[in-house]
Amino acid sequence: MGEFVKTSLEQAGVGLIRFDRPEARNALNEVVRGELAAAFEQFGADDAVRCVVLAGTDKVFAAGADIKAMAEASAEDMANTGGEAAWQVIRRFAKPIVAAVNGWALGGGCELAMHADIIVAGEGAKFGQPEIRVGIIPGAGGTQRLTRAVGKFKAMQMLLTGEPVSAADASAMGLVSEVVADDQALARALEIASRIARLPPIAAREIKRLVLSGVDKPLDDGLIDERRTFVSMFDTEDQKEGMRAFIEKRRPDFKGK
Ligand code: CAA
Repeated sequence: MGEFVKTSLEQAGVGLIRFDRPEARNALNEVVRGELAAAFEQFGADDAVRCVVLAGTDKVFAAGADIKAMAEASAEDMANTGGEAAWQVIRRFAKPIVAAVNGWALGGGCELAMHADIIVAGEGAKFGQPEIRVGIIPGAGGTQRLTRAVGKFKAMQMLLTGEPVSAADASAMGLVSEVVADDQALARALEIASRIARLPPIAAREIKRLVLSGVDKPLDDGLIDERRTFVSMFDTEDQKEGMRAFIEKRRPDFKGK
């Protein structure tokens, strides 16, 4: 447990990471970023955790990097914050991440949501990259991940104007997986995560790796990697268990082996 980031084990196999700094709209200062990275490291090392849910509070996901902490910083100061190391821990997290977004997901908050593999948004959620309005640009993947998620023209409009978009618009452009009633976002994210946690973790990890690495590869290279990984699944106990359970008309019990 950190000062601003709380972790808990929910249903079997699901780890929940929540950040709670309401007085600053969950702004991601150095402490929050460090605690977030530590929470991901903890769940990454815990074999009992197969899927992670990432959530802010009921009112806000995160309002981005802490503007007050960096207002007077020089470029050299910013180069030495260690912020990139924290983002890298989340970027390299091999298990599936489901984000539950309520309220604002702005700047680094929107970028944090985009580190997830599935995004469930409450209908009142708003997503935006407002960095340009405070004289900077996104610094945690906004220009890259947003464009890959929604395409050039929607991304350019959000990035160049700084205007947020509603959950409905975000859904229409492919920035979220599912929109639900505000009070259902966390419950739905946990439900999706627990479903994933019951499935074979080696397959889940490989699907995540292949999708993320495939985005930056020529199609032929991605297909070769997929085929090689597909074949390797037949060396796992979970493949035997999954297929035998299907034939025997029973529920599979996946062990992650
Ligand atoms: N950093 C530091 N403090 C913040 C903050 C942030 N990103 N966002 C909000 N706060 C603080 C406010 O300064 C305010 O503090 P005080 O009570 O001391 O005045 C408190 O949180 C409440 O904020 P508001 O009164 O503004 O709350 P609101 O509910 O009216 O508005 C909001 C919420 C729309 C999120 C608004 O606060 C806002 O626009 N925040 C800034 C969003 C932003 O520009 N984010 C980008 C940051 S840069 C970045 O993220 C870089 C990157 O890529 C990593």
